[in-house]
Amino acid sequence: MPRHFLTASDITREEFHSLIDFAIAIKRNPLLAGSPLENRNIALIFEKPSTRTRVSFEVGVRQLGGNPLVLNGNELQLARGETPEDTAQVLSRYVDGIVIRTYSHENLKRLAAASLVPVINGLSDSYHPCQALADFVTIRENRKTFSGLKLVFMGDGSSNVCHSLLMAAVYTGAQVTVACPKEYMPSEEIFRFAQSQGARINIEHDVKRACAGADVLYTDVWVSMGQENIKEQKIAALKPYQLNEEAQSVARKDHLVMHCLPAHKGEEITEGTFDSMNSVIFDQAENRLHAQKALFHLLYR
Ligand code: CP
Ligand code: NVA
Repeated sequence: MPRHFLTASDITREEFHSLIDFAIAIKRNPLLAGSPLENRNIALIFEKPSTRTRVSFEVGVRQLGGNPLVLNGNELQLARGETPEDTAQVLSRYVDGIVIRTYSHENLKRLAAASLVPVINGLSDSYHPCQALADFVTIRENRKTFSGLKLVFMGDGSSNVCHSLLMAAVYTGAQVTVACPKEYMPSEEIFRFAQSQGARINIEHDVKRACAGADVLYTDVWVSMGQENIKEQKIAALKPYQLNEEAQSVARKDHLVMHCLPAHKGEEITEGTFDSMNSVIFDQAENRLHAQKALFHLLYR
């Protein structure tokens, strides 16, 4: 059975921590990464737009000695109704791994279940686990330990990025507070699952209370890919949950400002906060590369 990475629960606590340590080590010394993907072809399927995920995976696969094949989902027969199962069966006979950015997490699970090669979730409507790996690499670079750290995710609690932070929180001992309106809370199923696995997580509707004493202030776009039809209502509900100077003023002085990108400045984050001294946003984007290379090491060793 191939090893997949669809959510953080596909790896163990020990693997999570070694992956983060290894990502930091290969960031400092890329030679340590070696060529675990030598003579391997990795399909990178994108059914939604992407800058960071696409480029960091393509470059990362090459740096590890492999050959990336970037495939536009619209140009595959998947877009014309070929099943995830048949697609996985066929691709498994050509390539050694599949990274896919898609809509339905159920379809992603179907694809993985039928695949004979590792499948990596490059974002689904429900999760963005590679982002969470890079996020904790970034926090780790700036803090000695995760334990006791207060991370506040502000805005759309129902977003894939928030869900993946909750899932990764299981391994960290960090206190993750989701500051969101009642209309856009995390999925109850994901929240309960993460909590049952030991994540220290809570939901708070009062922004000031949520951000008080925070070590990390994190946000994601208010309107995720595929949600353009509910844009107006989301912006209206999420307005009070903007990551701005007021939120920063009640956080710890040395707090980190994080954003998975792309950002809509003036919506979920102000320009001033985005550019503030506390921002580690571009390090976070860079760390996608290092974290994903460490993930390939884990899946292909
Ligand atoms: N953060 C992230 O996944 O960015 P892209 O959508 O550009 O890949
Ligand atoms: N929640 C966002 C994340 C983008 C990286 C989206 O799905 O569009």
